[in-house]
Amino acid sequence: MRRIVDRSMVFFSVKPLFIILVISLSLSLVVVLISIPSTPFSSNPSATTSSLHSEIWSVRRMFEWRPCKWWLEGHLTALPEETNGYIRVDCYGGLNQMRRDLCDGVGIARLLNATLVLPKFEVAAYWNESSGFADVFDVDYFIQHMKGFINVVKDLPAELESKEPFHVDCSKRKGHFDYIESVLPSLLEHHYISFTPAMSQRRDRYPLYGKAALCQACYKALRLTRALEKKGSELLDAIPKPFMALHLRFEPDMVAYSQCQYSGLSTASMKAIEAAQGDRKPWTGEAARLWRNRGKCPLTPNETALVLRSLVIPRNTNIYLAAGDGLMEIEGFKSVYTNIYTKSVLLSGEDFTNMHGNTKAALDYYVSINSDSYVATYFGNMDKMVAAMRAYKGLYKTLFLNRRAFAEFTSQGLEGKELVKALWKSHTDDFVLGRGSALPDCFCEFKL
Ligand SMILES: *[C@@H]1O[C@H](CO)[C@@H](O)[C@H](O)[C@H]1NC(C)=O
Ligand SMILES: *[C@@H]1O[C@H](CO)[C@@H](O)[C@H](O)[C@H]1NC(C)=O
Ligand SMILES: *[C@@H]1O[C@H](CO)[C@@H](O)[C@H](O)[C@H]1NC(C)=O
Repeated sequence: MRRIVDRSMVFFSVKPLFIILVISLSLSLVVVLISIPSTPFSSNPSATTSSLHSEIWSVRRMFEWRPCKWWLEGHLTALPEETNGYIRVDCYGGLNQMRRDLCDGVGIARLLNATLVLPKFEVAAYWNESSGFADVFDVDYFIQHMKGFINVVKDLPAELESKEPFHVDCSKRKGHFDYIESVLPSLLEHHYISFTPAMSQRRDRYPLYGKAALCQACYKALRLTRALEKKGSELLDAIPKPFMALHLRFEPDMVAYSQCQYSGLSTASMKAIEAAQGDRKPWTGEAARLWRNRGKCPLTPNETALVLRSLVIPRNTNIYLAAGDGLMEIEGFKSVYTNIYTKSVLLSGEDFTNMHGNTKAALDYYVSINSDSYVATYFGNMDKMVAAMRAYKGLYKTLFLNRRAFAEFTSQGLEGKELVKALWKSHTDDFVLGRGSALPDCFCEFKL
């Protein structure tokens, strides 16, 4: 029990009330665990599921995240009559990272009483593609749904039309900074600026109308283009129901970046990881152990299958694999969970090979926000966006597997049914308390 309290304090900023809740919940779970006779339950994937627990989704939740009232009810502050200028938000990275940047940028633009032009979606060379904003999102829908929150235009006024925006570099500014103080003067001087939102901004200091614009943009005004929605719903139709979407991340770049070491990998996987490593060498010895115990190491497909089995997710569950093309070591997972569907199999070959990374990411996103349940082995940009959209739609079978708990338990030497029990307990605690999937900004905690 001490372990759980420690974990909550270190890893999640939990309020005192919460800690008390965690303690009492842990106690009650301990009581439940003690009072149930233990049954043979093994980490061996071929062991049959015992009736010790029921599937995690059937556990009663106590908290959930819902869109905040102040945003949904849209108590709007009237837009100022005059604009302070035009802003283009420049977005980089993967699809969901760009979307995150766009949401932040909309909030900032509203804060500055600016007018938005369509954002620039530029993809890092790594992603090898060219899809812009209009290739992924429905522009007219966006403009229409931002009405009253912020003005969005497709075209600049004649006097700015031929100009490139003045670029404001937010990344060089250290610490928290005030956009009104540091960006507004450039906007007033140049009339048309571009920037990429800095990570360090303090959204909690925004006036409500700024935050509301951010929330509206992120969760209500962005809809995939018609063509993408059509493709997405074809894909969705092809998956047997009910189904779980699983965002499994175990690609060479991800593993190389994590600096974690794994044993039991195939030669091909090891080569791919090495190629992605560059100068970034994996930790070794004690440092590697500490790193792993901090939850820094991606779960392998084998480990993922073990955790899912611990959560009593049946082996015949239909699973849509929302994953990149480079997923490694998936065979181990497929030997446990056999009903696996991927877009490369469900979509026709020609369709698939013509698709850009952004398009593929958009399809995974679409299927994931429409699945019966969503499980992710990581908490990245896509997972945050999917969890938020699912909460927005009232879908709560959403879970992030706890790498840290897994590493801790295995380093303590837990195995077999002890490991299964421990995994069940830490994940149901998270699920019951709506923890581990905390949604900031636009979502409020709701006691059920
Ligand atoms: C922006 O407009 C609001 C009213 O909508 C006003 O209260 C605020 O002072 C303005 N801020 C700037 C930076 O112009
Ligand atoms: C990137 O695109 C180029 C040209 O379209 C292609 O030759 C290359 O194989 C692609 N690289 C990856 C990693 O997909
Ligand atoms: C996954 O499990 C299989 C079967 O037990 C094993 O052969 C393989 O090496 C494991 N892979 C990893 C990455 O641990």
